Amino acid sequence: MCGIVGYVGQRSALDVVVGGLRRLEYRGYDSGGVALVTADGLATAKKAGKLVNLDAELEARPLPHATTGIGHTRWATHGAPNDVNAHPHVDDTGRVAVVHNGIIENFAELRAELEADGHELVSETDTEVVSHLVADRLAAGEPLPQAVHTVCRRLEGAFTLVICDAQTPGVVVGARRNSPLVVGRGDGENFLGSDVAAFIEFTRDAIELGQDQVVVITADDIVVTDFDGAPSPTRDYHVDWDLSAAEKGGYDWFMLKEIAEQPQAVADTLLGRHSSDGLLQLDEMRLSDDELRNVDKIIAIACGTSYYAAMVAKYAIEHWTRIPVEVELASEFRYRDPILDRSTLVVTISQSGETMDTLMAIRYARQQRARVLSICNTNGSTIPRESDAVLYTHAGPEVAVASTKGFLAQVVACYLLGLYLAQVKGVKYGDEIRRIVDDLEATPAAIQRVLDDAEEVRKIASALAGSRSILFLGRHVGYPVALEGALKLKELAYLHAEGFAAGELKHGPIAVIEEGVPVFVVVPPKGRDQLQEKIISNIQEIRARGARTIVLVDENEVDAVSAFADHIIRLPRVPTLFQPLVATVPLQIFACEFAAQLGHDVDQPRNLAKSVTVE
Ligand code: AGP
Repeated sequence: MCGIVGYVGQRSALDVVVGGLRRLEYRGYDSGGVALVTADGLATAKKAGKLVNLDAELEARPLPHATTGIGHTRWATHGAPNDVNAHPHVDDTGRVAVVHNGIIENFAELRAELEADGHELVSETDTEVVSHLVADRLAAGEPLPQAVHTVCRRLEGAFTLVICDAQTPGVVVGARRNSPLVVGRGDGENFLGSDVAAFIEFTRDAIELGQDQVVVITADDIVVTDFDGAPSPTRDYHVDWDLSAAEKGGYDWFMLKEIAEQPQAVADTLLGRHSSDGLLQLDEMRLSDDELRNVDKIIAIACGTSYYAAMVAKYAIEHWTRIPVEVELASEFRYRDPILDRSTLVVTISQSGETMDTLMAIRYARQQRARVLSICNTNGSTIPRESDAVLYTHAGPEVAVASTKGFLAQVVACYLLGLYLAQVKGVKYGDEIRRIVDDLEATPAAIQRVLDDAEEVRKIASALAGSRSILFLGRHVGYPVALEGALKLKELAYLHAEGFAAGELKHGPIAVIEEGVPVFVVVPPKGRDQLQEKIISNIQEIRARGARTIVLVDENEVDAVSAFADHIIRLPRVPTLFQPLVATVPLQIFACEFAAQLGHDVDQPRNLAKSVTVE
């Protein structure tokens, strides 16, 4: 959840570290801080609040030059977001500085042990114990890497640690268990980061670290071992996006940039999915066709927006493959004593690849011998590493906390998985699959048309200004779209918003309808049973009770709803199952515009962070 940077090289460590933190600030912005190893020992600065506060601190009290340093932006888990609890944490001898992402679950007993030995701990955090423990090992004569090995073996929970020692200049040590840490390999310099955005300005050559590994970086060397000090395997990779992709590109908000990138995100996720002999191919699929043919149940697991992508997946995969699909919230999954075995395929969906709820669900599923396939947008992240197979989306870096292009790319990946399963099970012929993929490949242009009409949606956001509660209705695949539209508005505008299955209104929710309540309704295109007629009846029911209706409808079917719509958002025609790819976009734009009009920070909404790496 937090942003971490480490550096050793020839440049100003302060410039490199603070620059990296700026690109990681979306991971948490409760406080920021740096520690440098200077000729005169450790030099540190840290402040609560966003990085601008740290900048002011550094302006007022400049730090000496150094070429070794670490830094941190925090999303608070233990201890209020204040100066004392900000990272880095330094031991009471002033020798060791540590920054941390995760939760050290046995910190209380470690703290008690340290205080009994006479250590004085000043913060409320779990992290601080690490600085004292490492300092004790150094004082006992262990070199810094070994000291970190020893301490890591005592820690329980989830932690990414980056540590420096005043008496070991030119060295930074990192360790990871259950939280992300990547290495940037430079020329005469090396980097550590929570993700590659920390060092993308300097190098795109990265090393993925695995579970229970320690990495020691100097200006010219990178050594990776396990917690016992034995050499440990890693995976080198080249980051396929550059610094500009990680910056706003002229938009007011990262979110607006990422909304605009959705046609490309969908197109890129579809790229290269057909082999020369016309078969659908999923190149990271590490499960054999026989294993997939034996799948008799799928459980789709995710959190938040990604959970709504899993809901869409259910409709598509069941329709094409006739394999039953259960959809589960990751945080609920392992506590309901689920029924799964070797013939169960667990499909997890995660943009960040670091969501702890989802990661723990994977571990539980694998303990139960189920196979796990992950749909993920972040190469080198923990969730793909712990899965049997991976289907990467290619939406590019998603910086805004509110997921947009990540969601559409996830939905497309779910369609691809469903079609691949249909191909493997032989329930769809190649030409049928090809026709469906052709329809999919036409959706980027449809999404672009929705984006071209964004001004109409922005006008609706202005017209609804002041609303204190907004509802969203949908049927079939429009139901997860309604839920996602409500979540976007909650996340960004901090106002009550709720999505419903339209057919549920009469079973209770219609009681909240009163004069002027805005209700978005996602109308399915004709052709799927009587879905459209039924939802038009729902629109009439709420209009009769004073609702202000904003109706999203196929541009060729406006006449069917115009008599009951206060506002109409026209959608390009797409097949029923693909409607989420065009219907979600206006709801994203609406939420972004509504929040911006309220003066909110659209990219970094209050209380949230981009990657929830704690349970
Ligand atoms: C979406 O806008 C939210 N930021 C949040 O619900 C997010 O989708 C959820 O935390 C899951 O994240 P993941 O896809 O990275 O696992």
